[in-house]
Amino acid sequence: MCGIVGYIGEKNSNEVIFNGLTRLEYRGYDSAGIGVQDNGIQQVKTAGKVADLIKACQLENFPQSQVGIGHTRWATHGVPNNLNAHPHKDNSGKFTLVHNGIIENYLSIRKLLSKNGIECKSETDTEVLVQLIGYIYNKENISFEEAVRSALVEVIGAYGIVVLCSDEPNKMVAAKKGSPLVLGVGENEFIIASDTSPIINYTRKIIYLDDGEILICDKNNFAVKNIDENIEVSKTINEIKYSLDQIEKSGYDHFMLKEIHEQPTSIAESMRGRIIKNDGKIKLGGLQDHLHDILNTKRIIITACGTSWHAGLIGSYVIEELVRMPVNVEYASEFRYRETVVGPDTVIFAISQSGETADTLAAIKKAKSLGALTVGIVNTVGSSIARETDCGVYIHAGPEIGVASTKAFTSQVTVLNLIAILMAQVKDQNIKEVSHLINDLELLPQKVNEILTNTDEIQEVAKHFIDAENFLYLGRGYQFPVALEGALKLKEISYIHAEGYPAAEMKHGPIALIDENMPVVFIVTKKGYEKILSNIKEVTSRGGKVIIITSFDRDELYEISKFVIKVPEIHQCILPILTTIPLQILAYNIAKNKGCNVDQPRNLAKSVTVE
Ligand code: G6P
Repeated sequence: MCGIVGYIGEKNSNEVIFNGLTRLEYRGYDSAGIGVQDNGIQQVKTAGKVADLIKACQLENFPQSQVGIGHTRWATHGVPNNLNAHPHKDNSGKFTLVHNGIIENYLSIRKLLSKNGIECKSETDTEVLVQLIGYIYNKENISFEEAVRSALVEVIGAYGIVVLCSDEPNKMVAAKKGSPLVLGVGENEFIIASDTSPIINYTRKIIYLDDGEILICDKNNFAVKNIDENIEVSKTINEIKYSLDQIEKSGYDHFMLKEIHEQPTSIAESMRGRIIKNDGKIKLGGLQDHLHDILNTKRIIITACGTSWHAGLIGSYVIEELVRMPVNVEYASEFRYRETVVGPDTVIFAISQSGETADTLAAIKKAKSLGALTVGIVNTVGSSIARETDCGVYIHAGPEIGVASTKAFTSQVTVLNLIAILMAQVKDQNIKEVSHLINDLELLPQKVNEILTNTDEIQEVAKHFIDAENFLYLGRGYQFPVALEGALKLKEISYIHAEGYPAAEMKHGPIALIDENMPVVFIVTKKGYEKILSNIKEVTSRGGKVIIITSFDRDELYEISKFVIKVPEIHQCILPILTTIPLQILAYNIAKNKGCNVDQPRNLAKSVTVE
């Protein structure tokens, strides 16, 4: 939520900031703003998208500079208008700041400022921080760096901030606690941003800031210090591993469509080097040292949010089936506040595409504090969750930009299968079944490709249902989480209300909604075929319209519905991957036909770093 960029160097900072903000727009697109050093601080802010900001800057002949900061906002406190847009200046006009996160004690700081004659102009929590910095600076006559550090000591909450001060125009100060910040280390330039995508054009050398750290830099040098103790810390330089075309649309209409079509490759990448050819054993380097502890635990809890939670649900089924260990799946937002029974005999698997989701991160911290071992299943290399967990497995799906998660989900399910197989192999459990699954995993990218090479039928189905106001998705067993995911995809990007349910639960409520206007998507597989067939009949006999996604091709299905989408057959543990893909394509095409902004659906953000 919210993307921030700061630049100091020899280039035109506007260009670096506009490019960076455009890449970070997946984090929020309610408003955007830029502030630069040019005989004092100049800034432009607009409600709306980064493109609107760029236009506004062109109209105003916004000055070029070599030091600047920018922001794209996902609104928390205060409506998305120009006034609440970042950067925020203090009343002296000397400081300007961009912020990602939430200042929780903003009301008490606002009161303190007010008592001292400083009134905030916006409704945001952010403004109090820049006002506090200005207040401390002017009162105590200290340096820019010291003023920021002193103000941060007073702040409760989460922040990634970048600050400029007109008295020290060749300096940039940034700090992090709970929201991500990465520093790009270039030749006579530094770029600080919420993730690496604004940096990759200029340098591949990066440093991840850790919580509680403050960065001070001019164009040639930087220092990172600990906020509380003010002691310099040494940082490791890492390298950006992905390529530029991985974060560009490369000819596709939308990132989501590109990412759907990348799935044969992203799934193959998730497995690369992890299935040992000669003996079919699974090798996951990140788990090696902790495997014994994981297998000797009493129970496993999988925690995540959104689509990652759906992948976790599938993972729990696979682990229970293959490894015969108890697994619970918890929304991270619930887990973190509930009186959970967690201790040293529990292992937590935390799943996250971004590696930054605030609730998931907090759930991990809670589990760790109770003595549990934490395992990350993460896409973004170097992200907070990847670093916070004791060990883990990267899913290696590559950067995912579309707000609606697609390839990360299928890679998460792939990796959860690898983990379950590894655990079963070490426990010497279900070996025959496991070897069947491994064979099918190797066929998986090819089968995904088969679905993607012919999507005409799905596109036809989509045309029929663009006017639907509600949708129901039903599946049994492994296909129940798929129903949840299919419904989530549709509502996220098309704004059609959709619910996923276990097919048998339909008669305990949703059946009351069935009429001739209610499309019902059934995911039909060999397992439980007769049962789900009865559920389909329960819908058709009430006039409901049925769309069938099936790996079990039976003539009678075509008699029931003219909308039957066939997927290849594969082992049931990975069949959810194949059945989900048509649902991604269906959602995409319905949303596109309705004229919705597929990559930037309203009110959503890809990386949810607030509670
Ligand atoms: C947001 C995104 C979803 C994602 C969820 C969890 O809601 O829009 O696509 O599934 O966060 O994110 P994570 O990065 O932790 O997987």
